[in-house]
Amino acid sequence: MAEDLLIGGETKEERYNNLMPQLKGLLEGETDEVANMANMAAALKEQFGWLWVGFYIVKNEELVLGPFQGPVACTRIRKGRGVCGAAWEKAQTLIVPDVEQFPGHIACSSLSRSEIVVPIIRNGEVVGVLDADSIALSAFDETDQRYLEEMLGVLGQG
Ligand code: SME
Repeated sequence: MAEDLLIGGETKEERYNNLMPQLKGLLEGETDEVANMANMAAALKEQFGWLWVGFYIVKNEELVLGPFQGPVACTRIRKGRGVCGAAWEKAQTLIVPDVEQFPGHIACSSLSRSEIVVPIIRNGEVVGVLDADSIALSAFDETDQRYLEEMLGVLGQG
């Protein structure tokens, strides 16, 4: 239903279309990836009001917590573990409409109901993931996937 996609009078697509040029301006010319991840997490949190949005970065064969917005989260995730570890292992975006239905989901917050994890891929290797969690079921879809994947491309252009 179209109504379901309206957030504060704008469609999800409109929100991303507004955010994209702002984000490109914010990240342009800055080569420090942690700084860029921090601003991207803040901009996404402000625009969409998700429960949690942030990054995990691959370090020594583990995902380690990076810049994020939201409640405190687990700091390390192994390959294949949870939604983040599965997206890393498969090197593909995972959309989870109901986290309770995802075997091995890692519940950093009991309020999280749905989730999207998008891998950051450089030279064919996953170097980190972007994770977003919502208190609503089925909050994420292919629109989020498309725009978030595009955003992560901007992240690496420093
Ligand atoms: N739910 C994630 C863990 C990270 S937190 O949600 C911030 C997972 O299952 O990988």
